[in-house]
Amino acid sequence: MMGNGEIYKPRDWSGHPAYRHDPYASTVLRGPTKPLVRLRQTLSEVTGPHYGREAVGPLDADLTKNGVTDGEPLGERIIVTGRVVDEDGRPQPDTLLEIWQANAAGRYIHKKDQHDAPLDPNFFGAGRCVTDEDGRYRFLTVKPGAYPWRNHPNAWRPAHIHFSLFGPSFATRLITQMYFPGDPLLPLDPILGGIPDEQARARLVADFSLDVTEPEWALGYSFDIILRGRSATPMET
Ligand SMILES: [Fe+2]
Repeated sequence: MMGNGEIYKPRDWSGHPAYRHDPYASTVLRGPTKPLVRLRQTLSEVTGPHYGREAVGPLDADLTKNGVTDGEPLGERIIVTGRVVDEDGRPQPDTLLEIWQANAAGRYIHKKDQHDAPLDPNFFGAGRCVTDEDGRYRFLTVKPGAYPWRNHPNAWRPAHIHFSLFGPSFATRLITQMYFPGDPLLPLDPILGGIPDEQARARLVADFSLDVTEPEWALGYSFDIILRGRSATPMET
């Protein structure tokens, strides 16, 4: 516990995307225009909720199964796995990971997503799991498609998966996005480009892994998440 009664040290956000990054147009309107006021952590933010394994079922981490109505989702089946660690490489067990993503055609199940691409009746696009003693998580899903987002003329988001992490309490929630290696849209994306450091941007790109790949079944990607320190995974502010 810190001397002022707070449990969690403030984060150093300097390596993370700025609140306002003009090429990412909506940040111009939503970014704060005045200096932030730091709020004290109170009991409700530092004591819970605790996400136990019992609340998360095994199918929750299988996006190829958890939205099925009458068949399997279309698209390229992929495994996404990695470890959640702190700045010293220590595993972070019992971290709740939630992901959400577009389907293989680049469409979300959300009324605001009116992109002219098909919904998949067998794909919901969200999943969750809890890290094990080694800090490891694993999802089975389909590779999301790129989608247009009207930020600027001919703007397309690179394929990505959104990640939310919860440690032991609300004050520990972090959000980021994972990208795929070799995507030609990566250098054109103002959201990824909002991260000031090139090496930090690269940490959001998963590694293709033949070790994770399962023969005759699914391609494998490895994506570790480092919570703090010089090699921290960039998080959304
Ligand atoms: Fe997205």
